[in-house]
Amino acid sequence: MSASKDLSKYRDDFPILSKQMNGKPVAYLDSASSAQKPQIVLDTINDLYHSSYANIHRGLYSFSQSTTEAFEAVREKVAHLINAASKDEIIFTRNTTDAINLVASSWGEANLSEGDEVIISEMEHHANIVPWQFLEKSKGITLKIIPVLDDGTLDFEAFKTLLSERTKFLGLVYISNALGTINPIEDYMKAAKAHNPDIITLIDGTQAVVHKPVNVQKIGCDFFTFTGHKLYGPNGIGVLWAKSDLIDAMPPYQGGGDMIDKVSFKSGTIFKDGPAKFEAGTPPIAEVIALGAAIDYVQEIGLDHIAAHEEDLRQFMQSELETIEGLKFYNPTENTAAIASFTADWAHASDIAMILDQCGVAVRTGHHCCMPLMERYGIDATVRGSLGLYSNKDDIMGLVNGVKKAKEMLG
Ligand code: ALA
Repeated sequence: MSASKDLSKYRDDFPILSKQMNGKPVAYLDSASSAQKPQIVLDTINDLYHSSYANIHRGLYSFSQSTTEAFEAVREKVAHLINAASKDEIIFTRNTTDAINLVASSWGEANLSEGDEVIISEMEHHANIVPWQFLEKSKGITLKIIPVLDDGTLDFEAFKTLLSERTKFLGLVYISNALGTINPIEDYMKAAKAHNPDIITLIDGTQAVVHKPVNVQKIGCDFFTFTGHKLYGPNGIGVLWAKSDLIDAMPPYQGGGDMIDKVSFKSGTIFKDGPAKFEAGTPPIAEVIALGAAIDYVQEIGLDHIAAHEEDLRQFMQSELETIEGLKFYNPTENTAAIASFTADWAHASDIAMILDQCGVAVRTGHHCCMPLMERYGIDATVRGSLGLYSNKDDIMGLVNGVKKAKEMLG
């Protein structure tokens, strides 16, 4: 990781951060849920609709062609962001949930049969659990679960014992949205492929692309997913990266406009090749183009600089919160990214969050879409403070002072 660079000037790029919440300067510590948007992303959407918006891939007029070019250029930017071999490996989806549902519906339906085994972990987001549970029901596959250890890391030794002759798929979160744990995913990919090179692997990279440089070719996975709205981009746009041989082999899972070469009642339908096969209908055009602006923005700052800045702040947040009595932390203290996730022995997480709200502090409380993880710890909720590139020590002291106030009132 590179030395920390002062990122404070970038905070001014986010208009919402100068607003107040409940009469207090907002301390936005919920970036793991959704990141705020820099002016360049807002301007990109506004400019497109004001100047040259049109549907893409369909019009011979200039607006349509320039919008198509701007849209397709983002495939190249995404490929560069995650070091994909080609832009033709980038499929636009609605978000990570949509991307994993695409893999389960298309690849899973075509390749899994009764008794086949899918391995996921106990710290997965529901997005990487429920689509596989559908296949448990519809196809009789077996889900095997990598356990989480008390320190918030995955049990690698237990994982190795789960690999069997029936293992067909491994789906793993890179950075836990609930704990911040950075999983050593390359070790998992290597172990799976050494066991059987035909095991197909998926990495949920939603929190990873936001907090660190990512290289899908180095990771050695087959699928990689992320979402735009946590990467300072708009809602409604996500990415599925898939190796080109998988894209060629997978059947489409939704049919409609723009994904076909030919439709005929007489001779049937011929699908387009490449990502287009999975992008039926008019896509979220402005959202894709604005995602491109968000990618340019974070790459200009440098993801290594963002990682270093957030790690400095995370350590500060952890040490300041640890001064408060009665807190229990679930995030690991090393190899973790941008998160503090805790409960208090003197109040429920949601009561703390309500007092934080009155102090202008935005955090997420609850199960973080990771109910099996909460079940594993025997809790129903944590308070989660999560950082973005714009976070600063004032935000963190807002959280710390808010939790102290909650303790005075509820403890
Ligand atoms: N997955 C999002 C979160 O972690 C919504 O809060």
